[in-house]
Amino acid sequence: MSMDPSETKKGLFVTLEGGDGAGKTTQINNIERFFEKKGLVVVRTREPGGTEISEKLRDILLDRENGSMEAVTEMLIYAAARAQIVRELIMPALNEGKAVICDRFVDSSIAYQEYGRGLGSIVAEVNEIATGGLRPDITFWMDIDPEKGKTRASGAREPDRLELEAMDFHYRVYEGYKKICENDAGRVRRIDASLPVDEIRDIIYSYLEELCESKGRN
Ligand code: TYD
Repeated sequence: MSMDPSETKKGLFVTLEGGDGAGKTTQINNIERFFEKKGLVVVRTREPGGTEISEKLRDILLDRENGSMEAVTEMLIYAAARAQIVRELIMPALNEGKAVICDRFVDSSIAYQEYGRGLGSIVAEVNEIATGGLRPDITFWMDIDPEKGKTRASGAREPDRLELEAMDFHYRVYEGYKKICENDAGRVRRIDASLPVDEIRDIIYSYLEELCESKGRN
C-alpha cells in the first residue's frame, strides 16, 4: 500500500504558477534566498522538466512541430513528466528535509489541460496518480492579465507550442487559475503581479514566515 507522501515529508514544498511575463523567476530567486537564510538546503526545479527523462518529455511538449498533438496525449505527457520528477527529485529532497521550489506543478495541468483544453475532471484523477498525492505546502499564483503578460514576455524568445495558442485559450487558463484559488484558498496565494517586485517579495516573505512558523521552522 502506498503512503500519502504529503504526510511523510520533512521538507518544505513551494510552487509558483502563472503565465508568461508574470515575473516568476525574480521571485523564485527571492524565495531561494529566504530559505537559505533559514539555513535550509534549497532544490530549485521546474515543470515540465527537472530530470533527464522529464526534460526529454518537455522537448516533445513544447516543440512547435507537434501541432497535431491530441489534448489527452498532452495531458498524459505532462503527467508522465511529473510522475518522474516527483519520485526522482522532489520526494527524495523533501524526505531529506530540503526546501523544494518548483516553477509550475499540478495546478498548471488543472489550468491548462482541464480548463484550457476542456478535459474535465480526468486531469485531477490522472495527476493524483502522477504525484502519489503529494501537494505543495504553499503555491504562489502570479496573477497577471493574459494580454498584459503576453506584452511583457514578447520578444524574450520564440513562442513555444503552448504560447502559440489563441488568446481565448489563455483566458480559459486564467479562469482556471481563479477557480483553483477559490477552491484551495488555504494553499494557493494570489499575488498581484503588477505590483513592484520589491513589494511582491515582501508579501511572499510574510507568507513564507507564516508557513515556517506553522512547521516549526523558524
Ligand atoms: P515554460 O517555458 O516552462 O513556461 P513559463 O516560462 O511560462 O513558466 O513552458 C511550460 C509550458 O507548459 C507553459 O506554457 C505552461 C505549460 N504547462 C501545461 O500546459 N501543463 C502543465 O502541467 C505544465 C507544468 C505546464
